[in-house]
Amino acid sequence: MKGIILAGGKGSRLYPLTEVVTKQLQPIYNKPMIYYPLSMLMLSGIKEVMIICNECDKPLFEKLLGDGSQFGISLEFKVQDAPNGLPEAFILGEEFIAEQDVCLLLGDNIFYGDFDIFRTAYQNQLAKENDLHARVFAYKVTDPERYGVVDFDPDSKRVVDLEEKPTHPKSPYAIPGFYFFDKTVSRRSKELRPSPRGELEIIDLMQSYLDDNSLAVEILGRGIAWLDTGTPESLCQASDFVAAVEQRQGFKIACLEEISYKMGLIDKSKMIENIENMPNCEYKDYLNSILKDEL
Ligand code: TTP
Repeated sequence: MKGIILAGGKGSRLYPLTEVVTKQLQPIYNKPMIYYPLSMLMLSGIKEVMIICNECDKPLFEKLLGDGSQFGISLEFKVQDAPNGLPEAFILGEEFIAEQDVCLLLGDNIFYGDFDIFRTAYQNQLAKENDLHARVFAYKVTDPERYGVVDFDPDSKRVVDLEEKPTHPKSPYAIPGFYFFDKTVSRRSKELRPSPRGELEIIDLMQSYLDDNSLAVEILGRGIAWLDTGTPESLCQASDFVAAVEQRQGFKIACLEEISYKMGLIDKSKMIENIENMPNCEYKDYLNSILKDEL
């Protein structure tokens, strides 16, 4: 399975923060935002990732993340000329996807909690469980009218209805920015037409799978925190959340070097090399403590 992170867009709600620094490179407490979605893909078991971004930001992402080899994964970058909508990821990424399954994560969505549900969803997608070829998540919220909303049959895990920012939602379940699609996704995306706001819409892509009776849902329970970081308030809240959890537990969230080492993507000598390349700082001390704790 391939992974794509969408890290372009305008970031207009964060202006003037985003006038020079793109949203997905803004800090979430002690790490750039892009670390969080990338950690989700790595934890799911995905080793080939494409990051889609604006042209001016490509050198910055490359400087930060390189080719991914320091994390034992392969990373490539693709420019999106204009924010033409989320499904454009599958048109720009068609060659990269190479007729495999693909997981799309929005670069400004952060998840935290028991990871089993995501690993199960990944396995279910590979197995095409119940002959369903695409998967979305459902997350109960108090304000579903702000999101794409999913109505589903909890027994069969089949989606029965999708609505985009409905005035009177049929269900309280919002769809977070984390999706699995099968190899037909690029063809389906090319068949979409722009909506009245001029963008290809992810809800239309999901609808195409629903029309084929092929859209599954995985329910994210209350043990999972889903944060998005698109406004100044939510950006601060996400930082506060990560700070509170990290300071209380002593573990770091989305520490890519730790994840790659613990998942066996890199060996100890690579981990030591990664640490030696860092300036003296608390992040380096943390990684050193992980190696020391093993002794
Ligand atoms: P949005 O939050 O919908 O848009 P935005 O990031 O441009 O912010 P704003 O609404 O404040 O202008 O985008 C969700 C994520 O998807 C975000 O990480 C940016 C990314 N994105 C793209 O990379 N390309 C696109 O064409 C769109 C629409 C979004």
